[in-house]
Amino acid sequence: MQGFTEDAYRRIHNRLVGGVEAYYTPFIRLEHGGLRSKDLRDIRPEFNEGVNVIPQIIANGGNEFRVVLDTVLKDGYNRIDINMGCPFTLQARHGRGAGILPHPDKVREICDIVSATPDVRFSVKMRLGNESADEWKAVLPILNDTPLVNVAVHPRIATLQYKGDVDMEQFGEIVEQSAHPVIYNGDVCTLDDIRRIEAAYPSLAGIMIGRGLLARPSLAREYAEGVEWDEHKRLQLIRRIHDELLEHHRSVIPSDDQLLGKIRTYWGYMEPTLGKKAYKKIMKAGNLKNYLLAVGEVN
Ligand SMILES: Cc1cc2nc3c(=O)[nH]c(=O)nc-3n(C[C@H](O)[C@H](O)[C@H](O)COP(=O)(O)O)c2cc1C
Repeated sequence: MQGFTEDAYRRIHNRLVGGVEAYYTPFIRLEHGGLRSKDLRDIRPEFNEGVNVIPQIIANGGNEFRVVLDTVLKDGYNRIDINMGCPFTLQARHGRGAGILPHPDKVREICDIVSATPDVRFSVKMRLGNESADEWKAVLPILNDTPLVNVAVHPRIATLQYKGDVDMEQFGEIVEQSAHPVIYNGDVCTLDDIRRIEAAYPSLAGIMIGRGLLARPSLAREYAEGVEWDEHKRLQLIRRIHDELLEHHRSVIPSDDQLLGKIRTYWGYMEPTLGKKAYKKIMKAGNLKNYLLAVGEVN
């Protein structure tokens, strides 16, 4: 997730708690004809040592995909995820992310490159559609004809962004019609959520978690252990990840204000975890000193 699960977060999360089989990078894209140095830095092998990282590419068709893919593969990766789900209008209106779903011809261009690159294992992350929940129906047959490791589905349309109910009926149809193993993604926040999805779709290849893992970094580990952690243990972990992330950012960001702006995002999805009062105190702290006092009360 852009701005959240960058290399430092992934490394620290993996070392302190793990439980996650694979970490997908924020999407990598073309901007003004080139790749952003920030994105390239994020996937450098030396910043991802010991972490199972899958670079994710977003592209509006074969030409963009080819340029980004060739650059990413220079770092030695043989596993790539393709984003066909991003709802951000800046991407979708240029035919990237969910914006590619109404254009099966563009999906096919990308899939042709996938088929012609057998030494790399690809997966696709998709939504139901950009504006309509049946756009996937013209795309899935193309994906079915393409060698893919799996297809991860976030069963919403892009115009809903991250709100509204997930459409489990359409998801069930995709599970039935997909030639590839399917991964579920969307609104998974607790062990019960994971178990409910697992029980309803026994053939699933996995569950991908975004905001729920940011709010509860131990979630995947708790699942792997088969036991829920108590609140104190969960909060202690949240503090440890925070403290290490803060030290990392401090070593590269000289000004306190910028450091505060960067580290505060860590708490962005934690209102349900912390409660309104503690969350507000952290989000509203006007300087680093008050921020650290507010964080110190999390335990
Ligand atoms: C701020 C933000 C950034 C995201 N960035 C990406 C991204 O780069 N690639 C991607 O596949 N999904 C991205 N997502 C979507 C999540 O991966 C996920 O599909 C979505 O949040 C729904 O799952 P969740 O309910 O588990 O969070 C992002 C979501 C948010 C809120």
